[in-house]
Amino acid sequence: MTLTQAEKAAVVAIWGKIAAQADALGAESLERLFSSFPQTKTYFPHFDLSQGSAQLHGHGSKVLGAIGEAVKNIDNITGALATLSELHAYILRVDPVNFKLLSHCILCSVAAHFPNDFTPEVHAAWDKFLSQISSVLTEKYR
Ligand code: HEM
Repeated sequence: MTLTQAEKAAVVAIWGKIAAQADALGAESLERLFSSFPQTKTYFPHFDLSQGSAQLHGHGSKVLGAIGEAVKNIDNITGALATLSELHAYILRVDPVNFKLLSHCILCSVAAHFPNDFTPEVHAAWDKFLSQISSVLTEKYR
């Protein structure tokens, strides 16, 4: 499941554009998650989940920030996300199925914002990269 050099390059290639809009893309990904898969809202009872809320934007930017850490440490995603992995497994106990849903929504947001950059190769590379992040964030479950 490791990324090839070409896949890593495809992930990094579009990251600059994503990072420049991290806040908006993160919030949009969460909005897509909560409207397409409303069951995911149960993890955020303490949030104002209305469209454009400050909490949604704040959280979206944190999620994209973590993805940025993974991009910067693409050869050591496990190490880069170790603390987050413990948080999601031991404290938040998010059911692993939800990671696929969020990854899908992130891909949709990126595709919608950067249609010309979102080639089949970039799509496939980002899909694999987000799967890797999800594996790292769910690997401590027991
Ligand atoms: C918190 C990243 C998937 C639920 C966080 C934080 C980050 C993060 C950076 C903030 C940690 C902190 O404040 O120290 C990610 C990434 C994901 C992911 C990169 C996958 C790509 C999910 C999924 C769910 C979820 C699928 C549930 C549907 C939560 C909750 C919090 C949280 C409930 C705590 C929010 C709060 O009270 O502030 N996540 N997450 N996460 N995450 Fe995730």
